[in-house]
Amino acid sequence: MITRRQASAEIVAGAAMAAVPMVAMAQEAKSVTLPTPRNDGGQPLLRALKLRRSTREYSDRPLPPQTLSDLLWAAFGINRPSGDRTAPYWRHVMVIDIYVAMADGVWTYETKAHTLLPYMAGDIRADTGLQDFVGTAPLNLVYVAHGERMTDISPEERRLFASVDTGFIGQNVYLFCASEGLATVFRGAVDYPKLARILKLPDQQFVTFAQTVGYPGA
Ligand SMILES: Cc1cc2nc3c(=O)[nH]c(=O)nc-3n(C[C@H](O)[C@H](O)[C@H](O)COP(=O)(O)O)c2cc1C
Repeated sequence: MITRRQASAEIVAGAAMAAVPMVAMAQEAKSVTLPTPRNDGGQPLLRALKLRRSTREYSDRPLPPQTLSDLLWAAFGINRPSGDRTAPYWRHVMVIDIYVAMADGVWTYETKAHTLLPYMAGDIRADTGLQDFVGTAPLNLVYVAHGERMTDISPEERRLFASVDTGFIGQNVYLFCASEGLATVFRGAVDYPKLARILKLPDQQFVTFAQTVGYPGA
């Protein structure tokens, strides 16, 4: 009998193939190995909880590579030899991919190697939401659900569980940002059909939410 973990491993193996960038990025774009994440330190949890808030004014200052690395690890990085993550997820099936929209293009976060894979060229930040600051903040996380990995459940349940998975990741991002003095806001105000079209998502994949991250604006 196949265990849930084995089933998930197979799905993840398939997922690695499916995560191959679908839209050719400029020839020169290569995957970026992020610095080793700093998985110790920061503010005590209760202090981070006290500081957690949504922010809607951003400076255009980019995040240093170490901060980006730490952010992505905190969001949904691997925190155990089993390959499991900093956030809980539905039925041990890896449903959510994090797309990172920055001025230099869109990247996907590959957790195992802790790298950014080039996904598409071009600055689509302004298309990740309906609020002005999304176009100028240094990065927007776009949470993409692989509906095709959520078998035996209804479309409504897919939305529900993918949204819950995303919410946990979003809160990790909130707490990391609170700890680091960064600004963030989790966002549902997104033109979903347009963003899916721009990202050329296959039928069964869908954006759940987006989240802006940066330094607080003046
Ligand atoms: C599911 C969800 C969707 C949200 N969508 C947006 C959004 O599109 N734009 C926005 O500015 N804030 C959005 N927010 C942030 C909330 O407005 C914010 O968390 C709430 O006003 C409480 O403020 P606080 O986070 O500072 O405590 C969203 C929050 C959640 C949980």
